[in-house]
Amino acid sequence: MTDTTEAWTARILTLFPEMFPGPLGQSLAGKALEKGIWRLETLQIRDFACDRHRTVDDTPFGGGAGMVMRPDVVDAALAAATADGLGPAIYLTPRGRLLSQGLVEELAAGPGMVLVCGRYEGLDERVIEARQLIEVSLGDFVLSGGEPAALALIDACVRLLPGVMGAEETLDEESFKTGLLEYPHYTRPAEWNERKVPEVLMSGHHEKIRAWRQTQAEEVTRSRRPDLWDAYKKRGA
Ligand code: ADE
Repeated sequence: MTDTTEAWTARILTLFPEMFPGPLGQSLAGKALEKGIWRLETLQIRDFACDRHRTVDDTPFGGGAGMVMRPDVVDAALAAATADGLGPAIYLTPRGRLLSQGLVEELAAGPGMVLVCGRYEGLDERVIEARQLIEVSLGDFVLSGGEPAALALIDACVRLLPGVMGAEETLDEESFKTGLLEYPHYTRPAEWNERKVPEVLMSGHHEKIRAWRQTQAEEVTRSRRPDLWDAYKKRGA
């Protein structure tokens, strides 16, 4: 790809730009980044502070532990980050809506995204409202900041971009496309530490293999993720 202005762009507002590209500079995402299939840009939030000490946070009104990121500083950073119209603007927080493969697909299909990474206790609520940030959570656990969540979200998007995945890494059979978790995988050796690969997989009988994998996928989904299993059954009904 030669026209880099066209490339899918992840623009990250962070106090720790050195955390990027991090793992995204390796493997499939890293190769795609080198090829110009996607772009990574970081903005240092501290550069938008307006005082001599470059203060980005302050104590919470009402008291309590921790520090809150100032709305004026984050707003100025967002103004710069969205000036060319790139969006949506997403704030990574455990208070957000749960990330889904559906949202990842939507984001990968667009021009890119602006990500705000919070540290400390998070952002002042007013800048979230004023900038209509989409709040997204990776799950019910607390990270020390938004950066590792941003890395994960970008990874999930980038692998869907045209030209990123090789022919071998097919997207069609993936869990969140079929609605089921994946069936188990096996490779050589055929016997390892007295454990044998299921006979059917060595049979060369394609229809039997397909049926076995389907049953396994259903069984693992039913036992591990009743929520996904219910949704799958409803979809089929
Ligand atoms: N920041 C801190 N914890 C997070 C989480 N679980 N998801 C997204 N961003 C976060």
